[in-house]
Amino acid sequence: MDRKEINISYTEYGSLDELSAEDRELAHEAVEATGNSYAPYSGFNVGAAIRLDDGTVVTGSNQENIAYPSGLCAERTAMFYAAARYPDIPMDTIAIAASSGGALCREPATPCGACRQVMAEYQSRGGHPIAIILVGAEKIWKFSRVDDILPLIFDSLGK
Ligand code: THU
Repeated sequence: MDRKEINISYTEYGSLDELSAEDRELAHEAVEATGNSYAPYSGFNVGAAIRLDDGTVVTGSNQENIAYPSGLCAERTAMFYAAARYPDIPMDTIAIAASSGGALCREPATPCGACRQVMAEYQSRGGHPIAIILVGAEKIWKFSRVDDILPLIFDSLGK
């Protein structure tokens, strides 16, 4: 028997001012994108902003539906749009923010498992890590690659 450990490291910032200018800009875009969320059923407004390798920024927000499973998270809305519109430009960084009752959530919003799996696929397709910035009003977390929010990624149909 051999006991193993997986270590995950990330950076916590106390304010957007501590981010680099381009990350701060992306975080602002994610917050702004919460305003385009259509979430009449949950009241939870999520925004995502993706910076591509060429600097292009694509945003998305959660889009709900009265047939609940037909809706889609902000992250996947943004990633699918980015991949559909710019299939040959890898994704560099995704920023995510959420608001409720009109105010940015205090804690960073962490992406659901399905969105993490989709991020993993685009990271592998793009050939380099995708960084993830989770924006809360009181703290911001930055992960340098999808592996850090989705350990033991399912990425092979057989080795
Ligand atoms: N949601 C996202 O947009 N991203 C996530 O990673 C988790 C959840 C949305 C889906 C739904 O519209 C609302 O938040 C409540 O689950």
